[in-house]
Amino acid sequence: MEPPSASPRAGRGPWQELLLAVSLLAFWNPPTTAQVTVESVPPNAAEGKDALLRVLNLPGDTASLTWFRGETALPTHKILLYVIDTKVTTPGPAYSGRETIYPNGSLLFQNITLNDAGSHILQIINQKFETALIRGQLRVFQSMSQPLLTASNTTVTEDDSVVLTCSSSNTGVAIQWLFNGQILMLTDRKKLSQDNSTLTIDPVRKEDAGKYECEVSNPVSFRKSDPVRLDVEDKRNSTGLRLGSIIGIALGVLLGLALMAALGCLLLHTRSRSLIFLRVSPCCDLKELRSPASTPGHGAASRCTYPRPLLVLQELQHPEKNIYCQINHKAEVAS
Ligand SMILES: *[C@@H]1O[C@H](CO)[C@@H](O)[C@H](O)[C@H]1NC(C)=O
Ligand SMILES: *[C@@H]1O[C@H](CO)[C@@H](O)[C@H](O)[C@H]1NC(C)=O
Ligand SMILES: *[C@@H]1O[C@H](CO)[C@@H](O)[C@H](O)[C@H]1NC(C)=O
Ligand SMILES: *[C@@H]1O[C@H](CO)[C@@H](O)[C@H](O)[C@H]1NC(C)=O
Ligand SMILES: *[C@@H]1O[C@H](CO)[C@@H](O)[C@H](O)[C@H]1NC(C)=O
Repeated sequence: MEPPSASPRAGRGPWQELLLAVSLLAFWNPPTTAQVTVESVPPNAAEGKDALLRVLNLPGDTASLTWFRGETALPTHKILLYVIDTKVTTPGPAYSGRETIYPNGSLLFQNITLNDAGSHILQIINQKFETALIRGQLRVFQSMSQPLLTASNTTVTEDDSVVLTCSSSNTGVAIQWLFNGQILMLTDRKKLSQDNSTLTIDPVRKEDAGKYECEVSNPVSFRKSDPVRLDVEDKRNSTGLRLGSIIGIALGVLLGLALMAALGCLLLHTRSRSLIFLRVSPCCDLKELRSPASTPGHGAASRCTYPRPLLVLQELQHPEKNIYCQINHKAEVAS
């Protein structure tokens, strides 16, 4: 008898020890298989990943290994049969194409599904045609998808109540609540539903304002929701504030209108004053006064038309208008 050839990496020492132990046990009859155990690696498998049902202490006189799906070794539940001598693997009705049996008895599941979870039975037949059945358990968990956190109202008034709901498309999840990044402390005002999926805050206090998140998890993964920000308005002043702000806006509009009206009046007033100033341009009066005889009426008007803008400018810069008018008058006389 020799150890399974398909486990070249297995050390020789342990095998010899195991063979000795197995032969001793075999000598003492059925307990041969008592030491054989099956463990799942990893203990909690994530859907879509690989998992191994690992057989420990496989007896050295094993002749064939058969894995069954479920609790019983029914032919219809057969996944794979492996015969040690011939090294031939034969699939059964329950074979999905994702399982692999190794000469050491271990069964590998690739791309594991939730359907793979549960019991699996390994049937060991030794060279004396003695049969042993060993059960292995697979635990498979979904990868979490992101939960959705919603609030009955994100802006609440102090003393009102608010309900936050954490919805997950996954089943069998544990829900954890976070407030401002810390694990939420439950108080008599903050209560969770039976399954932890809803958080009720009643009554709401100012200090409850902040960032809420929920986190769903199972043994293989966890996901956090997007945060929801809760604003809490001061109750005593909320109506006053609302009324106040309306009055404030109204006052603001009125004040704005008044300011605009005032500005308009000011502009109009300034303009009309400069118009008046133009009309009562003293130069014309001066000229008319100095030469009242020469071309009365029409003549005075035509003479005044041209120098008027220049005259205004000069008047603004040099209030001593008389000096200019005198010069102008001389020029006119010279021409
Ligand atoms: C059996 O063989 C598989 C594949 O080589 C290996 O992953 C597993 O650890 C082995 N089991 C034991 C108990 O050595
Ligand atoms: C894994 O299985 C799922 C269906 O169960 C399939 O959609 C997916 O393509 C498989 N992935 C691989 C890598 O085989
Ligand atoms: C949210 O609460 C505020 C303050 O209590 C209230 O004014 C508002 O109508 C509420 N909104 C909804 C959608 O219930
Ligand atoms: C709900 O959450 C609390 C901690 O906040 C936890 O102790 C409890 O086990 C959870 N219950 C469920 C059903 O997830
Ligand atoms: C409301 O707020 C104002 C300040 O904005 C404060 O003076 C007043 O006392 C508050 N009213 C009440 C009832 O607390």
